[in-house]
Amino acid sequence: MSKDNYIRIFDTTLRDGEQSPGASLTSNEKLEIARGLAKLGVDVIEAGFPAASPDDLEGVRRIAKEVGNSTESEPPIICGLARTIKSDIDAAWEAIQYAAKPRIHTFLATSPIHMEHKLRMTPEEVVVKMREMVSYAKTLCQDVEFSPEDAGRSEPEFLYHILGEAIKAGATTLNIPDTVGYTTPKEFGDLIAGIIANTHGIENAIVSVHCHDDLGLATANSLAGLQAGARQAEVTMNGIGERAGNTSLEEVVMALYTRRPIYGLETGIDTTQIIRISRTVSNYTGMIVQPNKAIVGANAFAHEAGIHQDGMLKNKSTYEIMLPETVGLHRSRLVLGKHSGRHALKVRLAELDFEVDDEELKVIFKRFKDLADKKKIVSDADLEALVEDQLYQAQEIYKLDGLQVACGTIGLPTATVRLVGPNGNLHIQAALGTGPVDAAYKAIDEVVKMPNTLLEFHIHAVTEGIDAIGEVTVRLEPENGSIPERTSPQSGEVHKRTFGGYGAHTDIIVAGAKAYLAALNKLLVASGRYGEVETATEVGA
Ligand code: KIV
Ligand code: ZN
Repeated sequence: MSKDNYIRIFDTTLRDGEQSPGASLTSNEKLEIARGLAKLGVDVIEAGFPAASPDDLEGVRRIAKEVGNSTESEPPIICGLARTIKSDIDAAWEAIQYAAKPRIHTFLATSPIHMEHKLRMTPEEVVVKMREMVSYAKTLCQDVEFSPEDAGRSEPEFLYHILGEAIKAGATTLNIPDTVGYTTPKEFGDLIAGIIANTHGIENAIVSVHCHDDLGLATANSLAGLQAGARQAEVTMNGIGERAGNTSLEEVVMALYTRRPIYGLETGIDTTQIIRISRTVSNYTGMIVQPNKAIVGANAFAHEAGIHQDGMLKNKSTYEIMLPETVGLHRSRLVLGKHSGRHALKVRLAELDFEVDDEELKVIFKRFKDLADKKKIVSDADLEALVEDQLYQAQEIYKLDGLQVACGTIGLPTATVRLVGPNGNLHIQAALGTGPVDAAYKAIDEVVKMPNTLLEFHIHAVTEGIDAIGEVTVRLEPENGSIPERTSPQSGEVHKRTFGGYGAHTDIIVAGAKAYLAALNKLLVASGRYGEVETATEVGA
């Protein structure tokens, strides 16, 4: 295939994805996701919006330094978003300059509705501003991307004009966003074709597509844009993003891969990494993936109906258009048991693509043995849940050391928790609640003292069977004022940050307590108050 058919995958999970109300990530989590994205083989990582806050700037800088210079393989381009404001562009450059391949992405709205009501600028003023700021970005960075925001509702003639001027000012990528997810595939494909046919100097730039999913058309629109000649797709893992989300990476990549003869386009993505990074993003953000979600949903490769199962047994291609292994889903189910040793566990973890050091292996092996005592057979799904539970508790400010509950229809549900605090102190606390989870959360609240509202609580059994591991995902919102809020770079709207947590255990109340603590720990880190909180807490036995 010629180079002309190469589609650059620009991942904006850490910017447009993280910007969505429910998806706050800590700087360690962002770094971990960026590492996963680099391993996946994305061409560009949009690591954040550095002007949002000093924390956001620092998060992007860490990614630029560590992931943007990785020596394991060709490092991805690290991109920072900036409004067409000098201080935003300076902040973006300050953060990304450490990457081997830095990019500044700047945007300005071009639709009549945005120019008139949001910017209160005339089209000519918009062109002047764009020219000034793209030229300024170019003085700092060779690689500059410009997006005419709300291009989907902009006048095509005006787009041809402003994009031509952006190229003259130094932009090397022109990204065409359907910001509000309004267009249809034919319309969006025609828009891209029109831009390629009518924009002066377009042969010197890469045209990119960036679609939102308000009408459920983001993937179809992006693919139509690529068929019309765009050579970069802006996407997020699991399709997370503002409102209904962005185009999902896994859908575009797997459509191009599975229907190669139709599209004739290729990407540099290692598709076997897709499930892994999807789970990482879901567990860190606390945004669960709907079971029927294409490619990465829990049911995407499950065959329930008898007639389908019969066909599958005869020949997999009867009902399966992609092999689960292609996206990193492992078919083998019966793997390890209580007699399996540390070496067997290490080998299986490596086969599942988990890199664990000796210290981590020691802890995981102990947990594996405990699990194998309860369940005769430990499947790959069990192992994945167990390892993820271990790895996703990276910042354990408070650690669950023990939990006991009494519940049922007689008496009041009661929970006693034993927590180890940041200074190593042991806290023992009991509480009553409407049920065992409520009681456990109240007892934890008594110790951690971080007022919040629980927005979501999801339980999911990893495998079938009564002895399955339960995974719990929670999302919570801090009380007013305890955490700085976040402003959307586009709408200027202020979002409350929310924090997700994940826990896995054969006892779902324990899984729930771990998930809640994981989210609280993140909240404590974001508030910067955890030392102060523990000394103010009464230390128990
Ligand atoms: O949706 C949008 O318009 C954006 C731009 C910043 C590219 O996210
Ligand atoms: Zn967007």
